[in-house]
Amino acid sequence: MACELREWKIEDSGALSLLMNNPNIQNNLRDGIPYPYTKADAEDFIRSTLSAAPDSLFAFAIFSEGRLCGSISVMRQNNIHRRTGELGYYIAEEFWGRGIATEAVGKICRYVFENTDLVRIFAEPFSYNKASCRVLEKNAFQLEGLLRSNAEKNGKILDMKLYSLIKEQP
Ligand SMILES: CC(C)(COP(=O)(O)OP(=O)(O)OC[C@H]1O[C@@H](n2cnc3c(N)ncnc32)[C@H](O)[C@@H]1OP(=O)(O)O)[C@@H](O)C(=O)NCCC(=O)NCCS
Repeated sequence: MACELREWKIEDSGALSLLMNNPNIQNNLRDGIPYPYTKADAEDFIRSTLSAAPDSLFAFAIFSEGRLCGSISVMRQNNIHRRTGELGYYIAEEFWGRGIATEAVGKICRYVFENTDLVRIFAEPFSYNKASCRVLEKNAFQLEGLLRSNAEKNGKILDMKLYSLIKEQP
């Protein structure tokens, strides 16, 4: 299914709050995201995204069939990691299994490599998150390793997997 990436607009806050009020999504993300997730929380997120320092955050709303169905971003890292970006994404549960995350990851990686000086994009899914690992593998991300006991989420110590995609040299 085709999807498009576009800049966030404050009007997306209602739809974003609906899709983020879902533990099946939040259980696979980092902590610090409000739950329940109100429209005001969504507005705060969108405002912070739009006011991020230029060239530090490449963040997009994902649309399919004219509806907001997810979020995807690459965040530039600091210091000696300044030419590396961390990839994060989620898709509304009703849209799972339609290839949307796979397509969105491909699109944002192409965008970042063509429009910024980043040379490496990485992602760190929980190792049990087979769907996310598959999305990365389908986009030619390479598994660099298992990060053992790398996180505590919902009271459990979890392994994570480190995947990366390197910009091809011309
Ligand atoms: C992970 C997530 C983004 C996937 O989105 P999606 O749009 O459903 O992904 P796609 O449809 O593009 O691809 C999913 C792939 O995983 C596979 N998959 C799904 N569940 C699976 C499972 N339990 N075991 C193995 N493979 C699985 C699908 O079959 C598909 O692969 P295929 O095309 O080879 O058949 C979505 O489930 C989500 O938002 N989850 C919660 C948040 C999250 O995990 N974000 C990523 C954090 S690193």
